[in-house]
Amino acid sequence: MANENLNLTLKVWRQNGPNNPGRMETYQVKDISPDSSFLEMMDVLNNNLIETGKDPVAFDHDCREGICGSCSMFINGEAHGPDRGVTTCQLHMRKFKSGDTIHIEPWRAKAFPVIKDLVVDRSSFDRIIQAGGFISVNTSGNTVDANAIPINKEDADKAFDAATCIGCGACVASCKNASAMLFVSAKVSQLALLPQGRVEAEDRVLNMVHQMDEEGFGNCTNTGACEVECPKGISLENIARMNREYASALVKKG
Ligand code: SF4
Ligand code: FES
Repeated sequence: MANENLNLTLKVWRQNGPNNPGRMETYQVKDISPDSSFLEMMDVLNNNLIETGKDPVAFDHDCREGICGSCSMFINGEAHGPDRGVTTCQLHMRKFKSGDTIHIEPWRAKAFPVIKDLVVDRSSFDRIIQAGGFISVNTSGNTVDANAIPINKEDADKAFDAATCIGCGACVASCKNASAMLFVSAKVSQLALLPQGRVEAEDRVLNMVHQMDEEGFGNCTNTGACEVECPKGISLENIARMNREYASALVKKG
């Protein structure tokens, strides 16, 4: 029956803190509406745990509409679960059937240490952005209207596509090398494609790639799992662009 409510077995990663060994715990949830989201199903689980005096499962969430990138969960071996082009908060329970067992784990990467249960520390991404993911503009005095600089449609579209990266980290979690190249290349491309971003483009790509390596992310070996699992459809084309930007900046700036 298509609209049948779901009874599910959940195998959830529980870890009390960064230095504790984690373990999978098994829970049952009953009568879950197929129209509810994956996070609403997790809310039901947590209500059940609280009502029985147990510690609820810690997981990150904020916007619950695919914007903030915080709802990182590895569901049945896939970042953000079995659907394509959606985050965990946008994943509907109709993607599962009653009687299913669902495995739920945090992102696994050296540069994303587990804080508690399904919550990982993604401040490594923040430090990469701090290394160059911005433009320097003097906002006092005679600021130039952004629309005064014409930008061709193709570049504007590509920059906009790159800018849709929400920094969720699914690309890292899906990569066998835990590479952050898709994320970093989206941030580099978003600015490299626009005249406002060209001013600092060389320093930006050198500094951001350096910080990415410092944080312990792995290398890209062109497997493409990142692009498949990215909820925002960020293209591998951005990695190729970043490699070109990096090579050219290295020649000019050493
Ligand atoms: S590139 Fe995609 S998967 Fe990676 S952080 Fe950005 S939105 Fe998430
Ligand atoms: S909670 Fe914001 S993207 Fe899922």
